[in-house]
Amino acid sequence: MAKYIEQEEMQRQEEYLQKLLEYTSEFSLMHGRAPLVHTETYGCQQNENDTERIRGILKKAGFSFCEQSEAADLVIYNTCAVRENAEQKVFGRLGILKHLKESRPEMVIGLCGCMVQQEHITEKIKKTYSHVDLIFGTHALYRLPELLYQTLMSKKTVVSIENSDGAIAEDVPILREDSNKAWVSVMYGCNNFCSYCIVPYVRGRERSRKPEAILSEIRELVDSGVTEICLLGQNVNSYGKDLEEEIDFSDLLRAVNEMDGVRRIRFMTSHPKDFGDKLIDTMAECDKVCKQLHLPFQAGSDKVLADMNRRYTREEYLEKIRKVKQRIPGILLTTDVIVGFPTETNEDFQKTLDVIREVEYDQIFSFIYSRREGTPAAKMDFVLSKEEIQRNFEEMLEVQNDISKKKNLRYEGKVLEVLVEGPSKTDPNMLTGRTDTYKIVNFKGDISLVGKYVPIRIAEAHTWSLNGELVE
Ligand code: SAH
Ligand code: SF4
Ligand code: F3S
Repeated sequence: MAKYIEQEEMQRQEEYLQKLLEYTSEFSLMHGRAPLVHTETYGCQQNENDTERIRGILKKAGFSFCEQSEAADLVIYNTCAVRENAEQKVFGRLGILKHLKESRPEMVIGLCGCMVQQEHITEKIKKTYSHVDLIFGTHALYRLPELLYQTLMSKKTVVSIENSDGAIAEDVPILREDSNKAWVSVMYGCNNFCSYCIVPYVRGRERSRKPEAILSEIRELVDSGVTEICLLGQNVNSYGKDLEEEIDFSDLLRAVNEMDGVRRIRFMTSHPKDFGDKLIDTMAECDKVCKQLHLPFQAGSDKVLADMNRRYTREEYLEKIRKVKQRIPGILLTTDVIVGFPTETNEDFQKTLDVIREVEYDQIFSFIYSRREGTPAAKMDFVLSKEEIQRNFEEMLEVQNDISKKKNLRYEGKVLEVLVEGPSKTDPNMLTGRTDTYKIVNFKGDISLVGKYVPIRIAEAHTWSLNGELVE
C-alpha cells in the first residue's frame, strides 16, 4: 500500500497557505498589485501536471501569473533530468536569471522537479548558482506553502530534496491550463529501472492512487466542462498492483469509460512487458478510449533490449503490435526510440530500423542516448563514435519522415471529428485541434468553436499535421 501524506500534515500546509496569503495581501497593498509568478516546465506530462499543482497552490496563496521572467517577483522552473540537454537548458536559463536578479535583487528564484532530486545537481546549484533561493524535489511538492514561506522570511536558500520512495498527497490545489482536456495522474513513480533511465531514482517507487480519488477528480473535471481525459503514469500497466482492492488498469479504463460527460480517454505510458490481451480487449470494447497507443520499444535488437533491462524481446513486442492492429483496425501507433545506447552496434541499429519499417508508426519520438549519472548504463563503454551515432539518428529520421507522410496521405478526403483546441500557433488565422487518434488538424473557423467537436474534411496532408475544411 502506498503511503499517504497525513491529513494533519496537509492541514499544516493549509496554515502556511494562510500565512502566504497574508504576505501577498501586504505585498499588494505596498505595490498596488499582487506579486507575479512565472513558471516554466521541462520534461513530460507528469511534470506539466505537477506545474498545474504548483500554480494551484500559488493562486490560492494570492499570487498572479505572468508570461515572462523579466516581470516576475517569483520564478519557478519545474525541471527534467531525463537527458543532459534538458538539464543544460535549465543551467542556461539560470545564467540569464543571474543578471536579472542583479538588477532586481528582491526577485525569488525556485527550482523543483526531477533534476534537483539528484544530489550532485543540487550541490552544483548551491555552489555555482547561489542566486537560487528555493530548491525542492519531486517528493516535496505538497510542501510548497511551507517552503516558500520559509524562503520569503529567511532570505536564505531553502532546500528540500529528501530521498524517499515517495508518498501520495491528495487534495493539493490545482490550476489547469486547458478547460477542455485534462491530465489525471493515476500513479506515480517507476519500478522498472531500465538501465539508461534516471526516472526511477528521481520519482520513487510505483504507487497507485485509489480509484475513488481518480474517479472523483474526473467527475469534478467533467462538471467543469472537460470532455477529454488523459490518464497518466510512467507505466500505467502496473496500475493497482500495490492497492488492496482487486483492480488493474483495464478495470480503471472501463470505469472511466462509463462516466457521463467523458468523451475521449487517452493514457500514457504503457510498458510493453506489461501490455497484454486484457488491455487490448478493453481498448477495443470501450467506445470512449481513443484509437491511439504509445508503446515505446526503445531498440530493435534483443541484445540491446537485454542490456537496457527492458524485459521483452523484439518478437514479443512485434507480436503485441500485430494483435493491437488486428483487434483495433486504424489505430494510431507512436513509440519512443533510443539511438546510440552504449552497447549498440551498427548492426543492432539496423534492427531498430527494421521494427520502424515493419510497424509503420505514425510518429516516433527518437532520442540520442544520454549518459545519466548513477544509472547502470553510465558505466558501459561505447561501441560507436559520436559521429556514427549522429549519422544513424539522421538516417532514422529520414526513414520515419517518409512513413509519417505516407500515413498522413491516407487521411486526404476523409471527414474526421476534431476537438477544437484554439488558434494555431504557427498561423493565428487558423484553428487547431486533434482527432480521436491525436492527429493535429488545422482549419479555418470561428474562435467560438473552441472546445467543440466538429467534422473536418481533410484536404492536405503534411508530415506532422493535416489541413482541412469545416464540414457545415
Ligand atoms: N515511462 C515512460 C517514459 C519515460 S522517459 C516509458 O517507459 O515509456 C521518455 C523517453 O525518454 C523514454 O521512453 C526513452 O526513450 C527516453 N529516455 C529515457 N532515458 C534516456 C536517456 N538516458 N537517454 C536518451 N533517452 C532517454
Ligand atoms: Fe524510465 Fe523504463 Fe521507468 Fe520508463 S519504464 S520511466 S524508461 S525506467
Ligand atoms: Fe523528465 Fe522527470 Fe518526466 S525526468 S521525463 S520530468 S518524470
